[in-house]
Parts: sequence; structure tokens; C-alpha cells
Amino acid sequence: MTEVALVPSPEAGAALAAGLIAETLAQRADAVLGVATGSTPLGVWAQLRDQGVDVASTPAFALDEYVGLRTGHPESYRSVLEREYAAPLGVDPTLLRVPGDDGGPLATAGARFEAAITRAGGIDLQILGIGRTGHIGFNEPGSSLASRTRVKALTEQTRSDNARFFDHAGQVPTHCLTQGLGTILQARTLVLLAFGSAKSNAVTRAVEGPLSSSCPGSVIQLHPHVIVIVDEEAGASLEYRDYYRFAWEHRSLDSIQAPA
Ligand code: GLP
Repeated sequence: MTEVALVPSPEAGAALAAGLIAETLAQRADAVLGVATGSTPLGVWAQLRDQGVDVASTPAFALDEYVGLRTGHPESYRSVLEREYAAPLGVDPTLLRVPGDDGGPLATAGARFEAAITRAGGIDLQILGIGRTGHIGFNEPGSSLASRTRVKALTEQTRSDNARFFDHAGQVPTHCLTQGLGTILQARTLVLLAFGSAKSNAVTRAVEGPLSSSCPGSVIQLHPHVIVIVDEEAGASLEYRDYYRFAWEHRSLDSIQAPA
């Protein structure tokens, strides 16, 4: 099921996600992580450091990458993850894989990336953000719910949302390589984070809306183990938020009490 944790602040949400990663590593020494870019997961990496969670020897697979940026471009997701995730946490960059970073042909990059995930034993915990179009990874509206890692065109909304990382909007690539929705569903646990009112519509559509490729994030409803971490703003329009709050507070079987 989808569990929704409503947290008081993005910092609390990041601490919770870091704790979930720590639990995964404690359960499985050879765990594999799925990492994400965007602003949202940055607090999680900071919390991993603050909590002393050792991911230095944990293989990590990224969700997506722009197509068309030169190797080493500071805004390529490979560079972003090396700078913001691998370097501060002491992760050997060879343990980080980003779609298309092996230098092979673009047409088969998706298949090679999927094969690398399979060789690593699959992803144990995948960190996800969500875009305002409802995208996860870079799976824009219309993405097949069964899609695999492939090249996609970006929407104008996503290009304009991501223009803040470039000198001007025209520099934002038009295409990307992204894990597919079917690929993401194969991770053993999904942890989706969203903070702030700009995400509330996408969060509500993903968690409670109809399962539809019009909101690619809604594919999480097909996954048996999803934790959605939202602050009050991002969770504001969730119809069942009081229920989620109650269920989260009583998620331990020990907390169940007989009614009076
Ligand atoms: C990009 C990434 C997504 C990310 C989204 C939201 O488009 N490809 O993986 O979830 O941005 O980013 P932010 O967390 O900065 O709002």
C-alpha cells in the first residue's frame, strides 16, 4: 500500500527518508540505492551525512539524465549527483550509474542501463521527487505505465521549471533518458518526497487520483511498498490526510489498542 507520512517540515521529511535508507542498509549489507536529482532530495543527502549513514560502498542508480549536454557539463545529472551526493558522502564515483554515462550509443543506452541494474541485483530503495506535471524521473504525461529506460521529450513546463539551473531557458535540453515507470516499479521500496504548495496538486493526483498515464506519478499506486513523505503544504489537498496521519502514527503493530 501507499503510506503517507505528513511531516512538519522538509527537514523532518529528509530525516525520515535518511532513516529509511539506514534501515535498508542495516537489513541488507549489499543494498542498492536509487538516487534522484532536483532540489527535493538534497536534504536527504545532508541528513545521511548528519546521521552518519555510510553509503560509501553502496551502488547507486540515477533515475534520469539530460540528452545533449557535453560530458562533465555541470548541470548534467551525472555531474550534479557526483557533486551533491557522491562527493560529500564519500561514494566512489564508479559505484554511481546514470543513464547514458557509459559512452555507448544513445539508441541502446536504456537497455544497457537496465542490464546494469539487473546485474547489481535490482534497486532496494528508490528515492523519488515529483515534478509539477506529475512526472517521476522524467516520465512526462503520456508515458506508458509499463515503460522501460528510454529517450523522452521534455514538456515545456518541465523545461521552464528546470531553467533555473541554466543561464537561460533555451539552454535546457529538449530530451532526456529516463528510467521507465515499469523500471521504477521494480525497485523493492519507493520513497517519494514532495514539499511546498507547488507540489500539492501533483501529490494528490499521484496518491489519490485515477491511475493514469496523464499523471505518471500515479503509477506508485501499483507498487506494494511506497512511502510518500510530504509536508503540510504538499499534502494539503489530500482527501484522506487525517486517515494517513492516523495510519502512520499507528504503523507499528505494537501501537494497536483495543477500542475502549
Ligand atoms: C526534475 C527531475 C525529477 C524531479 C523533478 C522535481 O525534473 N528529473 O526527478 O523529481 O525535477 O524537482 P524538484 O525536486 O527540484 O522540485
